[in-house]
Amino acid sequence: MNFPSYRPRRLRKSEKLRSLVRETSLEVNDLIMPLFARPGKGIKNEVASMKGNYQMSVDVLVKEVRELEGLGVPGVILFGIPDEKDQKASGAYDEEGIVQQAIRAIKEEAKDILVITDVCLCEYTDHGHCGHVMQDRTGRWDVDNDTTLELLAKTALSHATAGADIVAPSDMMDGRVGAIRGVLDEAGFQDIPIMSYAAKYASAFYSPFREAAESPPKFGDRRTYQMDPPNAREALREAAMDIQEGADIVMVKPALPYLDIIKTIKETFDCPVAAYNVSGEYSMVKAAAELGWMDEKQVALEILTSIKRAGADIILTYWAKQAAKWLRESSKA
Ligand code: PBG
Repeated sequence: MNFPSYRPRRLRKSEKLRSLVRETSLEVNDLIMPLFARPGKGIKNEVASMKGNYQMSVDVLVKEVRELEGLGVPGVILFGIPDEKDQKASGAYDEEGIVQQAIRAIKEEAKDILVITDVCLCEYTDHGHCGHVMQDRTGRWDVDNDTTLELLAKTALSHATAGADIVAPSDMMDGRVGAIRGVLDEAGFQDIPIMSYAAKYASAFYSPFREAAESPPKFGDRRTYQMDPPNAREALREAAMDIQEGADIVMVKPALPYLDIIKTIKETFDCPVAAYNVSGEYSMVKAAAELGWMDEKQVALEILTSIKRAGADIILTYWAKQAAKWLRESSKA
């Protein structure tokens, strides 16, 4: 018998040994919690397709943020669900808009947590698209790139003015990072970082979010602006372009079906990389766990660890709060 001299199993014998040689460790510091703000008072509506996540009025949301702060979660990303939507997405850049109110309230009550804002128009347009819809030269209705840039820049500026720490454009218009950077700099917000959704794919994994944010497009889809899922090299061009325009952090979204993209972007660029573990990635585990088919905690921690292992420095995830508790328990054990 020829026995192997290298025996990987030697280092797997006990938890102490395994943890000594562990290559990746997930930390609460890596996690950002997405939150949904809506007008009103005392509102906490659970999102049916995303159990454990809620649409909250600002008073309730602030309490949630304080809890997250206490758990050591470093940041939240805010989405707004306005009462009224219109063609120009007025609610997105209104000084008294729902996100602007939420930012100010958080900044008063929870000083130790980063407030990131999703900069997009889809929650505020009556048609649900991420930009200004117009007829193009051929008569086809589509999101017009260049007139949308102005609205996005206005939105980002209103978030920064309200006190946001980081703005995160998720619309996928060409040139939006440059447009936002220009307007922020001009207004004296040179120090506000941009985390761009650089490689955002036209994914079917967003559908639970669209229920949470009440933002499904009323016609068509987002494939004329979000990336085509089979493309990888194009993600590098998108990231390069955003970095050149002034992005400080680049994001890949979704995370789990695009781990290869996270890895390639991490290896190609030297800026921090974020990954968005999106609603569908969360909901499918939740649903399977509810049926008793998988263990939510183990599967979630494995998924989040895989996203970090692929190269993400920052993970936006609906498990952020729960994972902070899980990680705290396991560090005590
Ligand atoms: C806004 C936006 C979306 C998500 C984040 N920002 C929806 C979309 O593009 O349709 C999805 C987040 C998720 O699925 O968790 N454009």
